[in-house]
Amino acid sequence: MFEILDKKILAPGVKLIKVKAPLISQKALAGQFVVIRVYEKGERIPLTIADKDEKEGSITIVFQEIGKTTKLLGKLEKGEYILDVVGPLGKPSEIDKYGVVIGVGGGVGIAALFPILKSLKSYGNYVISIIGGRSKDYVIYRDEIENLVDEAYITTDDGTLGRKGLVTDVLKELLENRKIDRIWAVGPTIMMKVVSEVTRPYDVPTIVSLNPIMVDGTGMCGGCRVTVGGEIKFTCVDGPEFDGHLVDFDELLLRLKTYKEEEMLALKILEESEANRIESFKD
Ligand SMILES: Cc1cc2nc3c(=O)[nH]c(=O)nc-3n(C[C@H](O)[C@H](O)[C@H](O)COP(=O)(O)OP(=O)(O)OC[C@H]3O[C@@H](n4cnc5c(N)ncnc54)[C@H](O)[C@@H]3O)c2cc1C
Ligand code: FES
Repeated sequence: MFEILDKKILAPGVKLIKVKAPLISQKALAGQFVVIRVYEKGERIPLTIADKDEKEGSITIVFQEIGKTTKLLGKLEKGEYILDVVGPLGKPSEIDKYGVVIGVGGGVGIAALFPILKSLKSYGNYVISIIGGRSKDYVIYRDEIENLVDEAYITTDDGTLGRKGLVTDVLKELLENRKIDRIWAVGPTIMMKVVSEVTRPYDVPTIVSLNPIMVDGTGMCGGCRVTVGGEIKFTCVDGPEFDGHLVDFDELLLRLKTYKEEEMLALKILEESEANRIESFKD
């Protein structure tokens, strides 16, 4: 059982929890994730380790309440417990001194990008961040990132914060005018696909953090299969980071939709059971 030490709401439907997990905290490196199970019969879902505090023995997880399991996780309060937290899993980011690097983050992926930027900075890179969201309220980790990097850009779809437009608009301009040595992109699959397409003609190595459906997280089930450079890779053990120019994003986007019907049904049952519970309190 893993105690929740702290909980914050970062944006509508986006929550941060700090979880007591001393052994994971000691070992976790940028780019790695944990697999959690909220209750005994619950599914296992992967979530990135957004930060850690070795002294406190804690890890930080930031998640978007998108379906049944993330909604149940979001209901747990400070002082309550998560049943299982397994990790750190996956290969850490390949951090080195590259020169000028850009980190592109979208939505909840911004939190997952944060430890990578932190690590790149500690290796002496000149770090540029481009983070974006639907609107002002959805741009999370803004202060943390602005205080960390050498140059920070923000975009929002509706122009309520930073520049109106997409993260890739700023990326294109930087690539046109500067020598960039490496790029990391973490966010929705479609954003990582577009970033990889934008950087391809400039031949700048582009690392993406893939998010296929995972079950065990240890290379046993094959659920997280992706095609990279024509070869089959298991994201949980070979990734989650891969060369964006080699990833078959269309296959990944298709595979992410495999269980849409079941996911919607699970969410509907959860919401109906909650509505029924509220009704019974009214009697
Ligand atoms: C390595 C990795 C790191 C991730 N890190 C984060 C993170 O830091 N924060 C965050 O909010 N999300 C993260 N995700 C995505 C997160 O795992 C899914 O949003 C979550 O599993 C959804 O579960 P659900 O029951 O709430 O929603 P559901 O309604 O079951 O699913 C909604 C969508 O989430 C995806 N999904 C569903 N089940 C899984 C699963 N078992 N594994 C992976 N994806 C699934 C599918 O695209 C699905 O269509 C990460 C995924 C991977 C692979
Ligand atoms: S999650 Fe099962 S092989 Fe990767």
